[in-house]
Amino acid sequence: MCGIVGYVGVRQAAPILLEGLSKLEYRGYDSAGIAVRDENSEHVEVVKAKGRLRNLMQMTDSGNAVRGCCGIGHTRWATHGEPSAVNAHPHYSKEKRVVVVHNGIIENYQDIKDMLRRKGYVFSTQTDTEAAALLLDSYYTEPGRSSLSPRERALGAIRDMMIRVRGSYALGILFGDQPGVIYAARKDSPLILGCCEGEMEGHMIASDVPAVLQYTRKVVYIDNLEIACLTREEMHVYNIDCEEIEKPVAEIRWDAAAAEKDGYEHFMMKEIHEQPRAVRDTLSPRIKEAEDGTRSIDLSETSLTDDDLRAVSRILLIGCGSAYHVGMAERYVIEKLSRVPCEVELASEFRYRDPILAQNCLAVIVSQSGETADSLAALRLCKERGVRTLAVVNVVGSSIAREADAVMYTWAGPEISVATTKAYSTQLAALYLLAVKLAAVRGSIDAAREQALIGELLALPEKIERILGDKERLQWFANKMAASKDVFFIGRGLDYAISLEGSLKLKEISYIHSEAYAAGELKHGTISLVEEGVMVVGVATQPELFEKVVSNLVEVRSRGAYLFGLTTYGQYAIEDTVNFTVYVPRTDPLFATSLAVVPLQLLAYYISCAKGLDVDKPRNLAKSVTVE
Ligand code: AGP
Repeated sequence: MCGIVGYVGVRQAAPILLEGLSKLEYRGYDSAGIAVRDENSEHVEVVKAKGRLRNLMQMTDSGNAVRGCCGIGHTRWATHGEPSAVNAHPHYSKEKRVVVVHNGIIENYQDIKDMLRRKGYVFSTQTDTEAAALLLDSYYTEPGRSSLSPRERALGAIRDMMIRVRGSYALGILFGDQPGVIYAARKDSPLILGCCEGEMEGHMIASDVPAVLQYTRKVVYIDNLEIACLTREEMHVYNIDCEEIEKPVAEIRWDAAAAEKDGYEHFMMKEIHEQPRAVRDTLSPRIKEAEDGTRSIDLSETSLTDDDLRAVSRILLIGCGSAYHVGMAERYVIEKLSRVPCEVELASEFRYRDPILAQNCLAVIVSQSGETADSLAALRLCKERGVRTLAVVNVVGSSIAREADAVMYTWAGPEISVATTKAYSTQLAALYLLAVKLAAVRGSIDAAREQALIGELLALPEKIERILGDKERLQWFANKMAASKDVFFIGRGLDYAISLEGSLKLKEISYIHSEAYAAGELKHGTISLVEEGVMVVGVATQPELFEKVVSNLVEVRSRGAYLFGLTTYGQYAIEDTVNFTVYVPRTDPLFATSLAVVPLQLLAYYISCAKGLDVDKPRNLAKSVTVE
């Protein structure tokens, strides 16, 4: 997730662009850049800097050193290509005929780059965005279009680019021979236009409201496959057929702080709601569809060949906190599908237990930040022992990503809230892909099962959406739970892994003591803690274990527990036992974690809110634990 901004009007653009980008840094902050030009000059000045926006501000004297009333800017959260000045946006074609800033992911950028190379184009960055910029250039400079007006040529080139690329984008575009004009286009990534008046007279583009709010409250929301053309005086919007369309102007009533959270009260709730998009962005680029409609998983980015995967004899899943819980869940998925033995390791324990490591073991280090000290140390230990390492991380260029032999990025975008939600969900998604791929190349699942599993994966985002569409009952129940002193989460198999994450979410943001327990283990001692009114959350998404979990719930109910049941639609028998039930859509039981965790995230969130706590910054915690 990145932030884009643009301005064309009566004022100097650079300071406005930088101010707008500063309000979008929550969308990404590993590098930034601007492209600015004068109204009557074909010269476009591009300035880019690695690191936080302040570096770019220092380079440009807060924008005062870059002259021009028309420009675009970008603050980056790297997905393709390390954070660097070279990979920072804007990206442009030769002589800056086309200059582009982009938020989103061009999934077929490699195919496009290959096609353009055959046309003689040369690439200078590792980014997917440069492919879009040079593709635009190739269309815009086609001889057959030279008789068209500049605007017709621009709209035609943008339309053709939108048809050719696959993925998500919000684009800000400058054409070298069109001074004083900004184009924009959108598919699946947010994009708004700002209408500035008075001393600010002009127009803006932005990824999100905060970037324009101090200049205007009049905005136009661009919909998918629409193109905008902005000058100081005019704003035009077109559909994919290049027909001009009318768009209503909305009045923003949010304050700036609320706008950064997209209207949500906390980043955590915003990030819970970003999970469908984040999971889709993590899955889709890695699932290829052949002409005959069959799908396959492409993990070529990991440099793990099919032979490598067939040679793996054991998999270590290593992480801390929620990343460890991902490993607890994925062990069931990987072992069930591929029959490769897995071990799940707490990084802080692993690094000191002098583990016995075989050569053909694969160590998977899971980490949102990619900077967790214990996880980094575990990675280094594996490498010292000659074990191949694969990092599953969310921050491009992070220490774990750089030091691992291979990396699978989770494209969740920046996660601001200390309690992880979307990063956790994308880690699950990334490792589902590894599990299915591993099973397919080892022949432990047949083609039909592989296709069915891939279909179920692609259906997950929409099912998460459905859960998010029905939150009110959870909020009601959370207010009843807020006074709890002890809460148990119990489940069997994958449901135990889900319980671990649900319990941690509750503890870390509501400060209520909680334990997750393998449901079958409770009676071996801990059940002595269950007394009248103790809250027990029973997770029962696994069909073959459903009856057993329900009987464990009966055991605790007979000791006075108050029961919250979490299961899939259709398992209505649970209502004979529990006091309150939440259902999630059906999916392959192996992927149930991705759905069942959402109500537990929401439950923890609402309880924390009911207690008036700081949801995004819980006491004693940090977003990345870079110390032992
Ligand atoms: C989860 O909500 C916590 N913030 C914490 O357990 C976190 O998962 C753990 O510290 C690991 O962080 P990492 O994924 O950045 O390595």
